[in-house]
Amino acid sequence: MLNTLSILAVGATLASRASAVGNARVVNNCSFNVTAWSVGSDVSAPQTLSTGGSYGEPFALDPKTGGRALKITIDQDGLYTSKPQTVFAYSLQDNKVWYDLSDVFGDAFSGHTLVEASSDGNCPSIVWRNGIPPAGSQVKTCGAGANVTLTLCTEKLQKF
Ligand SMILES: *[C@@H]1O[C@H](CO)[C@@H](O)[C@H](O)[C@H]1NC(C)=O
Ligand SMILES: *[C@@H]1O[C@H](CO)[C@@H](O)[C@H](O)[C@H]1NC(C)=O
Ligand SMILES: *[C@@H]1O[C@H](CO)[C@@H](O)[C@H](O)[C@H]1NC(C)=O
Repeated sequence: MLNTLSILAVGATLASRASAVGNARVVNNCSFNVTAWSVGSDVSAPQTLSTGGSYGEPFALDPKTGGRALKITIDQDGLYTSKPQTVFAYSLQDNKVWYDLSDVFGDAFSGHTLVEASSDGNCPSIVWRNGIPPAGSQVKTCGAGANVTLTLCTEKLQKF
């Protein structure tokens, strides 16, 4: 009986730890639709986000690539037609998450502000004021329990 109880207690602790992992989120505040894919060793179905729409997934370790990325294009088939992509890459390591923002095939959100920020106000944000990646490394890190949200076409530069 005691053994069963302690096994249950360990199980409960693991479960609450697992649910304490934060989410990688994309919020579309642009006046146009965007499409997001979650990419690791597999590629999710496309998620079309209309204005005000969002997509989120709990931080997860990809069994093959380690990290995962939320790839965003303006075109609905942009991932498959090499359209400009904005890429929110993340990597979960123990109780930390590393997050990054980069562009490939051009700058999808040129002229708009992008902010990638943690819900933990002590963690650093990535801010692209003109939708153009600044020079230098963008990689930031935070505790894995907080959400990291990329807001597209935001006017709010402060953390949220
Ligand atoms: C935007 O997305 C919504 C919901 O998926 C869809 O109903 C609408 O037709 C889309 N608008 C455009 C311009 O593609
Ligand atoms: C994290 O995001 C989820 C939705 O994706 C939300 O339900 C939850 O409240 C958020 N947590 C924090 C700490 O902001
Ligand atoms: C969303 O965009 C509108 C302008 O289109 C702006 O007024 C508003 O502050 C933005 N909201 C956020 C959360 O960035």
